[in-house]
Amino acid sequence: MGRVFVETERLVLREVEPDDADAIFSLNNDAEVMRFLNGGASADRAQIAGELIPSYLAGYQRFGGLGRLAAIEKAGDRFVGVFKFQPTDDGPLDEVELGYRLHRSVWGRGYATEGSLALIRKGFTELGLGRIWAKTMTVNRRSQRVMQKAGLRYVRTFFEEWPEGPIEGSEHGDVEYELTRDEWLAMGS
Ligand SMILES: CC(C)(COP(=O)(O)OP(=O)(O)OC[C@H]1O[C@@H](n2cnc3c(N)ncnc32)[C@H](O)[C@@H]1OP(=O)(O)O)[C@@H](O)C(=O)NCCC(=O)NCCS
Repeated sequence: MGRVFVETERLVLREVEPDDADAIFSLNNDAEVMRFLNGGASADRAQIAGELIPSYLAGYQRFGGLGRLAAIEKAGDRFVGVFKFQPTDDGPLDEVELGYRLHRSVWGRGYATEGSLALIRKGFTELGLGRIWAKTMTVNRRSQRVMQKAGLRYVRTFFEEWPEGPIEGSEHGDVEYELTRDEWLAMGS
């Protein structure tokens, strides 16, 4: 099994492994899950197994163990989604982007918030991070709600060209949220 990164009451977040290809395909092939990510386009299983997962594995080397994490529901030992917790390619290593994508069957149970809170705690206490940030489409209110519940605050709205071209709602732009280590410490978390 891939190395465990962090554990919460109901979830284990561990490194992605090649055997996750089917589970990631079913996640990325759900148009509702992908609605605010690529407009709901379908996924390509061969690309997931041959390119996406290898890129995740290479990322662990490159970013000192940070990267994409498989979320496993402890009850039933079931793959329920993927979290992102990694620096950008050209950004500082102590600034990490947080993201989450869960199977529709588990939405609304607080898993995204629970996983995010655990990642943030680990990031600021064990990993020496200075800033954790997240972005999503302005119209993705559900995702923003998770950011807020995880303690991140709104920073800005911005507009940039998407490689895939415009999708429904992209005319409203994207939002960025953030939480610095000092803010997190001041929250007495
Ligand atoms: C975003 C996502 C990860 C949230 O996962 P989740 O485990 O259901 O999130 P949580 O249960 O922790 O919290 C969801 C919150 O959003 C709220 N919410 C749900 N639908 C909403 C909506 N349409 N508008 C505003 N808030 C909404 C919920 O009520 C809940 O807040 P509350 O606890 O204050 O009631 C999940 O919906 C998902 O995978 N979406 C598709 C992928 C995606 O868009 N990811 C983000 C890309 S940046």
